[in-house]
Amino acid sequence: MKNRKNYFQSKRDEKVKRAEVDVEEIVWGGKGLTRLNGKIFFVSKAVPEERVKIRITLEKSDFGEGEIERIITPSRFRVSPLCKDFKRCGGCQLQMMNYPSQLSQKQKIAENILRRWREFAKFNEIIGMKNPFFYRHKGEFHLKVKDGKLIFGFYEKESHNIVDFENCYLFDDKFNLKLKEVVKCLNSAKCKNSLLSFSLSCSETGKDYVLSLSHKGSFKDENEILEKLSPANLKGIIVENEETQSIRTVEECFITYSIKQSEEILKEIHFKVNPKSFTQANFEMNSLLIKESLRLLNLSNYESILELFSGVGNFSLPISLRCKEVLSIEGSEVASKDAKFNSTFNGITNVENINGDVNEWILKLLAQSRQFDVIFLDPPRSGSFEIMDTIARFQPKKILYVSCFLPTLERDLRRIYEFGYAPTEFSFFDMVPQTYGIETIALLTRKK
Ligand SMILES: C[S@@+](CC[C@H](N)C(=O)[O-])C[C@H]1O[C@@H](n2cnc3c(N)ncnc32)[C@H](O)[C@@H]1O
Repeated sequence: MKNRKNYFQSKRDEKVKRAEVDVEEIVWGGKGLTRLNGKIFFVSKAVPEERVKIRITLEKSDFGEGEIERIITPSRFRVSPLCKDFKRCGGCQLQMMNYPSQLSQKQKIAENILRRWREFAKFNEIIGMKNPFFYRHKGEFHLKVKDGKLIFGFYEKESHNIVDFENCYLFDDKFNLKLKEVVKCLNSAKCKNSLLSFSLSCSETGKDYVLSLSHKGSFKDENEILEKLSPANLKGIIVENEETQSIRTVEECFITYSIKQSEEILKEIHFKVNPKSFTQANFEMNSLLIKESLRLLNLSNYESILELFSGVGNFSLPISLRCKEVLSIEGSEVASKDAKFNSTFNGITNVENINGDVNEWILKLLAQSRQFDVIFLDPPRSGSFEIMDTIARFQPKKILYVSCFLPTLERDLRRIYEFGYAPTEFSFFDMVPQTYGIETIALLTRKK
């Protein structure tokens, strides 16, 4: 039997192609770029300036993919990842590189994707974190029963297998403990098979946790879940039935954060946010992002601003302190409700929040001949290609585009360029260290 197994294994191995390659740089998505006979191969968890032996996992006519089998000459930038599950987990892509080289690679990636705009725009140096771990205040985790026990974690890269990590270093120790406590409580429920996923959010103070749990069980199961969760000491719980779409909210379902007063931000602003509303993943970087947006906007108190994809008012409120008025549009009912609450709570009266679809509302505003000095937008990853022409039709003096996804930003910039606007300055932020993400702000003005 053993020989037969070895025979088939070696037959399989014969078919696998292997090669030795040099890693040149990291590309968008976090893989290392290598070349073999002129063809590009992307290799995950490879570090620039190292020579590796790869197993080719995909080969197409114009590119291929590979996995490291052996590091022949390690890069001077290579470090041991903090997380012992890094190899399997799809949550991080860059833990095998030291932080300065993560930042320099991200700068290169951004400049490469945006290279078309070099002659028009200034590229600022990426802003990184003092401590590139423990920065997340919110996470979404999958649940599954394995051998009678409930496990939780992120998906393995490019699969739906759950990596049930011991500790995730993107969160602090207290957050990791709370995660374990929550799953321990859920494990004691008879209906644990009906649990699908959950998100855990923490206030900036690190004290209050809110859980949002998704399941496909009955109302009776929900009662059991809520009872079992009681020792976890959560500030609030949201239980959502994926099949019936019913949502049950228990206790105080919000987290809080604030933006400190500074040269750019005229007074401290406090936010109270439902965990279902979008919030930036990293509070520290979020403050820097807002400050830089204000620097780039250089407001003079008189501007009328249209803000698209405004969420809970994260940008609207600090911006409103420096301009005449902000009209903000947000699609999520929950986030819009939070935004209205946050304006009132902070005594801000010059922000009007509309709950609706940006694509529809922007056309309505254009038809009403509304005028704006500045248009500010912070769309989701998919960008906002469909409305770039409409944005230009308002003829604002400035456009500020905040993006978490460089390829769609680049595509949208090309679109609006056709309608008379070009980027003049880019700023980059490492909002999500250890992953390939890059947060970008692009300032656009009318072409001369
Ligand atoms: C990247 S988030 C930015 C939120 C906010 N600027 C912040 O910093 O927290 C994008 C927001 O756009 C909203 N959104 C997505 N598609 C939308 C649409 N078609 N119309 C209106 N809002 C939309 C989402 O609900 C989300 O709040």
